[in-house]
Amino acid sequence: MPAAVAFATEATVLFEQGDHRWIWLGTDDGAGEGVPANQYLVQDRGRGLLLDPGSVLDFARTISNLSRFAEPATLDYLFFSHQDPDVSSGVPMWAGVTKAKLVMPAIWARFLPHFGEFDQTRIQGVPDKGSTLALGKSELRVIPAHFLHSTGNIVLYDPVARYLFTGDIGTAIMPPGDNSLYVQDFSKHLKLMEGFHKRYMASNAACRNFVERINHLAIDAIVPQHGRIIRGDDVKRFKDWFRELRCGVDLLAEMYR
Ligand SMILES: [Fe+2]
Ligand SMILES: [Fe+2]
Repeated sequence: MPAAVAFATEATVLFEQGDHRWIWLGTDDGAGEGVPANQYLVQDRGRGLLLDPGSVLDFARTISNLSRFAEPATLDYLFFSHQDPDVSSGVPMWAGVTKAKLVMPAIWARFLPHFGEFDQTRIQGVPDKGSTLALGKSELRVIPAHFLHSTGNIVLYDPVARYLFTGDIGTAIMPPGDNSLYVQDFSKHLKLMEGFHKRYMASNAACRNFVERINHLAIDAIVPQHGRIIRGDDVKRFKDWFRELRCGVDLLAEMYR
C-alpha cells in the first residue's frame, strides 16, 4: 500500500482479496470551492457500492476514476451516510448513470426531491436500528451512528476487508498540500480532527454509545469521508479518543462565552 498518492488523479486500491476490493476514488486538494471529500468504491464479484458519492463538484473526478474499475451499470448501491450536500447533492447525476438503489437513513428519504431526485421507488431507507446489504456474495452491515453528526446517520462495516466506513466520523481538516492517504502520526492527526468533532458531533453520549456498539467488531481501518484513513493500532487510539470526547451540547455553555 502506498503511503502517498497524487490527489485527484489516481484512484488507489486499498484492499483486495479475490474478487473483493475497496478502491479510493480520490479527493481534491482543498483549493476549490467545496469541501474536499473522499469517495470509495466497494466491489464484490463485479458488483459495486459507492460510499458517499459526493456533490456535483465531485462528480466528474469520481466517475472518471470509478470507470477505471467498473461500469456504472454494475453499481447496485449508492450509499448516503446522511443528507449533507457534500454527501448527497450529486444524487441526480449518479441516479442518472446507474440503476443502483439509493441507500440512506429512512428519515432523510422524504427530503430527496429537494436535491432533484424524484424516483422514490429507488430509495432503500435504512431503519433507525440498521440493516444489511448483500453485495455480490458478501454481506455488508449498515450500522446506525445517529447524531454523529446528523440526526439520522449510518456507517458501513465490511467484515471481509474489516473496514469501517464512518462518513463524517473521523473527519480531519487537512492542511493544503498534504498528500498522505493514511494517518502517519496519530497524535498530530488528533489536532486536525478535534475542532470539527467538537463542533459538529452532538454529544459525548452519542460518541460513547457508538463506540460501545462497534467495539466488538474486528476493524483494520476506519475510513472517513474527509481526511485520512486510520488503520492498525490507531483504530483503538481513535476509539479511545472518541469515547471520551466532549462535544456538541456538552460544550453549549462554552459556545456563548
Ligand atoms: Fe456532514
Ligand atoms: Fe461530510
